[in-house]
Amino acid sequence: MRRVLTAAIAALTVTTAGTVVTGTPGQAADRPGRSRQIPVAAPAPGSPGLGDSYFPTYGNGGYDVDHYDVRLRYDPASDRLTGTTTILARATQDLSRFNLDFLLDVESVRVNGWAARFAREGSHELAVTAPRGITRGQALTIVVTYAGVPSETLLDGYTGWTRTADGALAVNEPESAWWWFPANDHPLDKATFDISVSVPAGVEVVSNGVQPRPALAEPGNRVRWSWRTTTPTATYLAFLAIGQYDLVADTAPNGQPVVNAYSTTLGELAPAARASIERTAEIVDWASGVFGPYPFEAQGGLAGPVDGIGFALETQTRPVYGPGFWRRGSNPYVVVHEQAHQWFGNSVSVAQWRDIWLNEGLATYAEWLWSEEQGEGTAQELFDFTYAAYPENSGFWQVLPGDPGADRIFHDAVYDRGAMAVHQLRLAVGDEAFFALLPAWTAAHRHGNATVAQFHASAERISGLDLDDLFTTWLFTAGRPALPTAAARAALAPHQPKSWAKIREAHQVRQR
Ligand code: ARG
Ligand code: ZN
Repeated sequence: MRRVLTAAIAALTVTTAGTVVTGTPGQAADRPGRSRQIPVAAPAPGSPGLGDSYFPTYGNGGYDVDHYDVRLRYDPASDRLTGTTTILARATQDLSRFNLDFLLDVESVRVNGWAARFAREGSHELAVTAPRGITRGQALTIVVTYAGVPSETLLDGYTGWTRTADGALAVNEPESAWWWFPANDHPLDKATFDISVSVPAGVEVVSNGVQPRPALAEPGNRVRWSWRTTTPTATYLAFLAIGQYDLVADTAPNGQPVVNAYSTTLGELAPAARASIERTAEIVDWASGVFGPYPFEAQGGLAGPVDGIGFALETQTRPVYGPGFWRRGSNPYVVVHEQAHQWFGNSVSVAQWRDIWLNEGLATYAEWLWSEEQGEGTAQELFDFTYAAYPENSGFWQVLPGDPGADRIFHDAVYDRGAMAVHQLRLAVGDEAFFALLPAWTAAHRHGNATVAQFHASAERISGLDLDDLFTTWLFTAGRPALPTAAARAALAPHQPKSWAKIREAHQVRQR
């Protein structure tokens, strides 16, 4: 389901050897000036990475996944996970072999029915050699059976799988799939998912999307839970939550199914968790008015257990929240943040992890917009507060939100300076252009991938302004930016505040 990419991204999929290793069928041949000289290539190995500048070995070249069917069996008492993932994909080149990203022990791999040879390579690569040649455009059915104890499967001492007292969470970014399903593990290759897990009776399993059928009893006092996602999903946005959960089903204002889930371990944190997550459908409805139509088929949220994760993640259709967000009472802001990611991050995904500001800067700014709309402080007040909170000599100002570095993709600068950058953009272009840009952006790249440079270009197109200085200063230059004077701002564009009543009204008209 990889979308046609920009020339810039296509360029980074060219390996050092000069072989084009990824892209939609026809992409390489369609590139002007190169196609006709290239003879029909001999089958070659798929690249072990997609050339991401921060994580070059994440994802793989040579094929494009359409669907993952992840069929598992899990036992909380031992953390043992066994199962089969069936990958429906298409070759994007003549392939002699290809890689999957995966860490658990593999028992067998079949490709289009034929047993395939496989070997572990690098830190997280599973190299697969099919017994028959694979030609470009060919449909592939890759069946991988495996087993392991994910909490004990360590890479540099680390596991992205969180075992808890009552189950487990497969929730992480940017690495999550390696511990529970073999994948082309990069946001460039989105796919749909069927995820089903057999667990002992009495244990709940929650994942993305909708339940195509209720949890069904299986022999041995077990139950199998099934979840289905029918919209393109990046691999890090698929998740599993296994344990003791209360599930609460509802219908959203737009008619979609809502399933919220609450760990039964939350104790005194439970009321604040419910008071926050139960506002999900309301928040999605508000966000739809600001960012454009909600891109997915279901809604919800999951309050994770007390001994689970210390962060929240915008897992598609159903974000997962760590318990820390409820310690000071209800927190609609984290719900706004994770729901904003459904547009910024999940539907419009990074083309490279370096583009993380497109996710975190915009999701954090969504919190400021919600605050403004709720009368809890304007975005300008939040900007002033945040700008003042980081002294000029703070290391915070040394991290570039537009290129933070692989080990700082979740640095405060990406979030807070990132949101400050969005606010400066809003001031520069004025509210009319700003509130036109957001839905235009999510529409243009819906279910695709995008770069910071493309966002910059879209903002210039919609506003008619040269924004090079603004983007360079706020995203790509170390040091605390000076604030534009009121006069400089007036020279750029008249600031016409758009009232929230008007934004809401426009949304209601669109919904009718
Ligand atoms: N995208 C998440 C958020 O901002 C952040 C995830 C951080 N991941 C982590 N392992 N700490 O909502
Ligand atoms: Zn975020």
